[in-house]
Amino acid sequence: MNVRENVSLIDYSTMRLGGRTNYLVEVTDIKQVLDAIDWAASRELPVLVVGSGSNLVFTDRQFPGLVIINKTRGIEFYDEANEVLVKSASGENWDNLVEATTKKELTGIEALSAIPGTVGAAPVQNIGAYGQELSDTLQELKAINIRSGKQKTFFAKDCRLSYRSSRFKRAEHGDWFIVSVTLKLKKGQMEPPYYRSLESYLSENKINDRSPTNIRKAVTSIRHTKLPDPSKVSNTGSFFKNPVISPVDFEKIKFKNPGIPNFSNSDGNVKIPAGWLIESIGYKGYRHVNGMGTYDNHALVLVNYQAKRYADLAEIVEEIQSNIMDKFNIMLEVEPEIV
Ligand code: EPU
Repeated sequence: MNVRENVSLIDYSTMRLGGRTNYLVEVTDIKQVLDAIDWAASRELPVLVVGSGSNLVFTDRQFPGLVIINKTRGIEFYDEANEVLVKSASGENWDNLVEATTKKELTGIEALSAIPGTVGAAPVQNIGAYGQELSDTLQELKAINIRSGKQKTFFAKDCRLSYRSSRFKRAEHGDWFIVSVTLKLKKGQMEPPYYRSLESYLSENKINDRSPTNIRKAVTSIRHTKLPDPSKVSNTGSFFKNPVISPVDFEKIKFKNPGIPNFSNSDGNVKIPAGWLIESIGYKGYRHVNGMGTYDNHALVLVNYQAKRYADLAEIVEEIQSNIMDKFNIMLEVEPEIV
């Protein structure tokens, strides 16, 4: 096992911020995962599992333990009657998995195309976009407990998936190394109604065949025009969750802001796009003197243009949160994991 000492974490998060870790190791199979967990346990060190770092931000502090970088690979298909089970190693790139499934004309995750990150990170925050959510297709996942090294299977219902969250993000945050994820997909096409911007794209481009491949192409194209590519522009996608408020609170805001976009939530409350709130306080395409900013085409994406420290990000986050609080009386909740 090649454990490196005192490693900078900047290259392990797409926001390109953060301090150093005492130890870091890259793993490519389960044996190496178990060895790494053992190594840390015998030294009583905390462990942090990192995929491609596209939904986490490191603070400036030194991490006093072992960071495990997940580089496990492998995708397997198991055909059943009308359905297909797809089992993927957690270190696979999520979009490679989507591509592999759409090539087989399987429906279920095609609208989740072009989302940065690894397969193992997908259930942690129950990724969702353009009308699909991982919870729609997740069958089960296998995980190893970070402290005991014991392996366990979690069925979808045990994962407590909710909007951008799961048991792995909340109560048991950092407790598990997700080893593999199994999805249940179908031959066929995504059912309408489609997410508004996807529907407009399909009709504007006269795409009548809504095959998984065509939906994948459309979503990839929409995302590329609106969202920055983390390999070119340092960011972690949506930085805040879309707030959900009561209908009474919504009416108060709507009274002063008649054009406010809104979506009815399954629980009877109202979901408001955080991107709209941030744009309305003048922060779209904003550049802070400290090198942080928001993306020109999407105010919900915070971008590290030139910042060097997590403190710079924290500054702009607080600025946006307090301005939104003053104007709308809504507290925006941070979406990526802060480590
Ligand atoms: N909007 C603005 N100004 C902006 C950005 C958005 O006014 O600068 C308004 C527009 O009214 C737009 C609405 O917000 O119609 C919704 O925007 P968008 O369709 O981009 O979706 P979102 O709610 O901002 C969510 C997810 C994205 C996902 C898209 C598409 C969250 C936190 N974000 O964004 O996920 O790709 O829907 O389904 O739920 C991510 O999690 O990193 C992510 C990118």
